[in-house]
Amino acid sequence: MCSALLLTVSPFPRVPLSKLSRPSERREPASLDTAWRDAGCGQIEASWVEREIRVIGWVHRRRDLGGLFFVDLRDRTGLLQISFGPEWTDAAALELVSALNPEDVVQATGVVAPRPRANPDMLTGEIELRVTSLERVSVADPLPILVYQPPDEALPSEELRLRHRVLDLRRPEMQRNLRLRHMVTNAVRASLSEQGFVEIETPLLTRQTPEGARDYLVPSRVHQGRFFALPQSPQLYKQLLVCGGFDRYFQIAKCLRDEDLRADRQPEFTQIDIEMAFVEQDDVFRAAERMFQRVWRDGLEEDLPAPFPRLPHAEAMERFGTDKPDLRIPWEIRDFTDALTGIGFGIFDGAVRAGGRVRGLVLPGGAALSRSRIAHYDKLAREAGARGVLWLKRSADGWSGPPAKVVGEEVAAALEARFGVGEGDLVFFVAGPDAESSTALDRLRRTAARELDAVDESRETWLWITEFPLYEEDAETGLPVPAQHAFTMPADPDIERLREDPLSVTARAYDLVYNGIEFGSGSIRCHLPEVQRVILEATGLTPEEVETRFGFLLEAFRFGVPPHGGVAVGMDRLVAEMVGCASIRDVIAFPKTAAARGLLERSPSTVTPAELEELGISVSGSTIA
Ligand code: AMO
Repeated sequence: MCSALLLTVSPFPRVPLSKLSRPSERREPASLDTAWRDAGCGQIEASWVEREIRVIGWVHRRRDLGGLFFVDLRDRTGLLQISFGPEWTDAAALELVSALNPEDVVQATGVVAPRPRANPDMLTGEIELRVTSLERVSVADPLPILVYQPPDEALPSEELRLRHRVLDLRRPEMQRNLRLRHMVTNAVRASLSEQGFVEIETPLLTRQTPEGARDYLVPSRVHQGRFFALPQSPQLYKQLLVCGGFDRYFQIAKCLRDEDLRADRQPEFTQIDIEMAFVEQDDVFRAAERMFQRVWRDGLEEDLPAPFPRLPHAEAMERFGTDKPDLRIPWEIRDFTDALTGIGFGIFDGAVRAGGRVRGLVLPGGAALSRSRIAHYDKLAREAGARGVLWLKRSADGWSGPPAKVVGEEVAAALEARFGVGEGDLVFFVAGPDAESSTALDRLRRTAARELDAVDESRETWLWITEFPLYEEDAETGLPVPAQHAFTMPADPDIERLREDPLSVTARAYDLVYNGIEFGSGSIRCHLPEVQRVILEATGLTPEEVETRFGFLLEAFRFGVPPHGGVAVGMDRLVAEMVGCASIRDVIAFPKTAAARGLLERSPSTVTPAELEELGISVSGSTIA
């Protein structure tokens, strides 16, 4: 979670404040004068000295220095010190100021004056407003959470912040997050429009779109017993739009998924959704990279080098154990099978006999990890599905760890020469099927890199992962389930094997990964109706079910369909990374909690029996209030 500080102090670990709130930006728009004020608080400049003006805003902080009062008045443009003294303030205002509460809304009239002692940490630190008269426009009750955050004081709990989001949103940090989000949205629209994309809205009341999560359903009053589904993504509509002749479509689209939530997942989130006709993968990559270059330039004033590197899925799994590798960590998974089998260590031999491998990770400097830390890593590996982790330490005294007794001269030489294991290093081994070792070693790699300070935070790494498998095997049913979604074109030669060996088919699908986070996902679509039918049927749907659920898509493919492809980027994750917040909830105005509730408006809520009856719905149990 981001920490809260005043506008003038950088709260972001990754993004210097100067990039997000340059004075020129904070003074935008040029004029905020209205019937209530002559300018925004942060817009008053030294050149205004001696002018009489009116400002209005929230009481951020008040100080009482024996008869003199100083109030920091706040609005979206920043803070302005307004001062009160018997020599220049009328009696009513002097009486009122001593009674002000934090977050009262007040309108002050006064004269701009130089400040006896300038405050370089404040944008308007050279001046103050000497208040002649004051009006309290709105009285604030005692605050459940503070907006002015004294330095070094922790933020209130997230639950309180979400419950009182209106106050939380006033914090400069939330203001900045949402303003950056606005800048990103603008940059996306500008870049895509320049590239010939047309923004089109697609329906929210729709039928089920399979993206792998549960749907939010909306009952139809008119057609009782029938339900709309809220879109998990605009996937099918965007394909229909390119069939409809919009050969470059985009949308800043709300997507709704009833899935288990985490810091980087919300039930309601926003995608930058893109689809293009007559394209191959490179064309989609180029359009997206240009968009990101614009976003980085407008949002962070940084030039982003493109094209981004690419890595086939199989290679990512082999080298990093994951399809979203964090390339800021310099370590790669290595295959120790031939070096460590047949040397008398039963666990390794057994795993290989069962068809597995011995894979591992060399941690430079890892010999410093204590046995209890190593036990912790063993636990992590087991939680990730492996049978545990084995380890070898190389210290000045030689080798230690469970397999140390079988590390003879030859094995030691191989570990040193081929795998670069040196004094002070530790090697973690996971023996078994690749699926187990990949998951476990990915987890160990990310955790140990943080513990041993091996993540190069100064770098930003962008990566396209390509050539995903089309299907994965469902652990419960054994059926192939689409690895991403079912509308992707199989790689050319693999189309032949769709029916007999679907799990071996490669898809023309890709993900975009930024610093180990999945930013986006997309594919070249299957525009051949017959192949599309087979892809859907391989997931266990009957031809009739395919027709009922996806007939409208297949029909569109019958009247001249352009080869097409696209990508969707998670807006919330993108903005959260740009501001350096750990949770996407900090870049969403009104997010849901991890338990999928809206704490502010108290949603979801019960409805009356009459409303349910109108919808033809009866709820079992005692859930109706
Ligand atoms: P996918 O399901 O991978 O692809 O979603 C694309 C991107 O959306 C973001 N994302 C989320 N962000 C916040 N909360 C969530 N619950 C959530 N789920 C996904 C991620 C992800 O990379 N129709 C395809 C795209 C396509 O093929 O064009 C799709 O939706 O950043």
